[in-house]
Amino acid sequence: MRISHYNLILAIIFYHNFNYMDYTLTEEQKMIQQAARDFAQNELLPGVIERDDAQQFPTEQVKKMGELGFLGMMVNPKYGGSGLDTVSYAIVMEELSKVDASSSVVVSVNNSLVCYGIEAYGTEEQKEKYLTKLATGEIIGAFCLSEPEAGSDATSQKTTAIDKGDYYVLNGTKNWITNGSTASVYIVIAQTDKEKGHKGINALIVEKGAEGFEIGPKENKLGIRGSDTHSLIFNDVKVPKENRIGEDGFGFKFAMKTLSGGRIGIASQALGIATGAYELAKEYSNQRKSFGTEISNHQAIAFKLADMHTQIEAARHLVYKAAWDKDKGHNFDLSGAMAKLYASKVAMDTTIEAVQIHGGNGFVKEYHVERLMRDAKITQIYEGTSEIQKIVISRGILKN
Ligand code: CAA
Repeated sequence: MRISHYNLILAIIFYHNFNYMDYTLTEEQKMIQQAARDFAQNELLPGVIERDDAQQFPTEQVKKMGELGFLGMMVNPKYGGSGLDTVSYAIVMEELSKVDASSSVVVSVNNSLVCYGIEAYGTEEQKEKYLTKLATGEIIGAFCLSEPEAGSDATSQKTTAIDKGDYYVLNGTKNWITNGSTASVYIVIAQTDKEKGHKGINALIVEKGAEGFEIGPKENKLGIRGSDTHSLIFNDVKVPKENRIGEDGFGFKFAMKTLSGGRIGIASQALGIATGAYELAKEYSNQRKSFGTEISNHQAIAFKLADMHTQIEAARHLVYKAAWDKDKGHNFDLSGAMAKLYASKVAMDTTIEAVQIHGGNGFVKEYHVERLMRDAKITQIYEGTSEIQKIVISRGILKN
């Protein structure tokens, strides 16, 4: 069949509008990047070491991030959000995470798991009641999937939500919940009908203070120590039917779909941690002297920096591509998983090298890189371990 000129032109326009990814940031994205960078330097950096030491939640910082619109970045302005794209969100996550991953994880969970989950799949009433407050940072949310015996294997959870007509009765324990004690709204994934497997699972919105809902002990963690991680206990908690997100049995797919977006947030966090460590190492190596010259003049150090920079650039391309896929309405399960898998490895490798470049000083808290190294590890674990990302990626490529 002969392709007419007209068809060819249309195909080119279509390709450029929908398939061409331009890595140049828009003026608006550059302004958002600068705002996040300034905020990180002025508001997150002071006291970051002390908060990490004391495992102190960044309450003031989170309040200010809410005022700046960072907690509901992609939410429609009619629900109080900033109405921005996912690329802008990734940029903000990167900038905040360069300095303080304990604060940026609050942004990630609130934006991608809680706000997105309710905006994409909730009812109008749920949006009016919860999203409007979550998007402005008046309250923050938590996403509760993991259990003591079900982390990666998400369908084998034991928390039950028994259907009692107008309400569900929730029983069970959730583990490692980010924003565990500071959240006001919790999205809880629970089993309603075990016989139906993943189709018997529901996602319920539970409010703090509900009778029978208890916040368990706080975890004493290796990294992101300022973030507030708890177990949660549900003991005959009554949850009204109108708090279910989506149709009966949609809970597992809800969790999977929401986590696909969450993985872009964590990939951006990993990218930020890596970039923060790289920038500190570069600066240090231009100042520190050994054998009569700055250590950056030694090839052993210069080559490490070259590797770090290259890996960070590659990770950034994957992260922006996943964010762009989401903005364009493309499937982002695969690109989000690839971005998280790779960026989290780069975060780990880069922070270890940054500590090495700092030598003895790298082992000391005031130089920041040891904290970045500890913070990097969680990006290979939460919102799906690296091994889970490989399951998602391999299934994605093999089915095509
Ligand atoms: N979108 C839509 N549907 C999806 C989906 C997606 N991304 N992924 C899976 N599904 C659907 C499947 O199509 C299937 O439905 P059908 O039977 O109708 O086709 C159903 O869900 C079950 O899928 P699988 O058979 O693939 O399920 P599985 O048991 O093999 O598990 C898994 C798949 C990818 C391993 C999944 O269990 C998983 O992602 N596990 C990791 C969970 C995780 O990320 N936990 C992190 C905890 S949250 C957290 O860390 C938050 C925090 O506080 C920071």
